[in-house]
Amino acid sequence: MSADDRLLDVRDVTVAYPGRHGRDGVRAVNGVSLHIAPGEVVGLVGESGCGKTSLGGAVMGMLPLAGGEISFQGERVDRENRTWMREYRRRVQMVFQDPMGALNPRLTAGAALEETLYVHRTQPGLETAPGRRARRQELMAQVGMDDAVMGARYPHELSGGQRQRIGIARALAVGPRLLVADEPVSALDVSVQVQILNLLKDISEQLGVACLFIAHDLAVVRYMCRRTYVMVGGAIVEEGLSDTLFAHPAHPYTATLIAAVPDVARGLAARSR
Ligand SMILES: Nc1ncnc2c1ncn2[C@@H]1O[C@H](COP(=O)(O)OP(=O)(O)OP(=O)(O)O)[C@@H](O)[C@H]1O
Ligand SMILES: [Mg+2]
Repeated sequence: MSADDRLLDVRDVTVAYPGRHGRDGVRAVNGVSLHIAPGEVVGLVGESGCGKTSLGGAVMGMLPLAGGEISFQGERVDRENRTWMREYRRRVQMVFQDPMGALNPRLTAGAALEETLYVHRTQPGLETAPGRRARRQELMAQVGMDDAVMGARYPHELSGGQRQRIGIARALAVGPRLLVADEPVSALDVSVQVQILNLLKDISEQLGVACLFIAHDLAVVRYMCRRTYVMVGGAIVEEGLSDTLFAHPAHPYTATLIAAVPDVARGLAARSR
């Protein structure tokens, strides 16, 4: 793959948290490189505390880099350049583990979507209320929600799966090229997990939106992503096609991840057979 084919290019990135009260700081990410092509869904897998969320935060431009650099569509992510960052924050959207925190408790799902559409106005027609209403209905349909019913509900009146659908609709409302999905299904019931995974998969295929899919479960990542990075202790230890990683793990850690296959993964494996 040439550098021009890269939507996102993370080169030798280090993220460090400062120490407090005289204690040493934490190097959460240590010299990580990874890349994502336009429309590609790429997995990032590793055990709790290995640095996945920190790397995601660096990609989102939320955390400063202690080393290395990140480029998006060939341009360097520069946290100091506010105009550039505003556009970047539109192009790169986050899908959270628990979307509750990202949703305003005082707005119905439909009103929240319309507000996001109004604030960003990424396409003609969104200046008018009927235009926003039409786009909102389109987005709700895209995430498999009945706008007439669910659009009128407040976040606390939605199930976890429904809330995650709204979270995804909200991310899509601003026209992103990349989603950073940090454990997007781990807070959900197993049966709902599969639905949300399939939704994310369909969306990236239909809209050509790329995704950095973060999880601690290799089987879920394999189901979602053709290509996967395995992270241990802040570093990438293995990268490759998910099927190959699964069949012939090169790193002993990858092998232990495969051994620890939880229920949802068995369900997914049964489905793909
Ligand atoms: N704000 C912070 N201040 C200091 N240290 C932090 C901070 N956030 C994370 N860390 C540390 O950085 C390391 C990586 O944390 P991170 O949240 O990136 O891991 P993770 O792979 O996302 O884990 P999980 O699977 O549990 O979400 C951990 O050792 C963690 O304790
Ligand atoms: Mg995390």
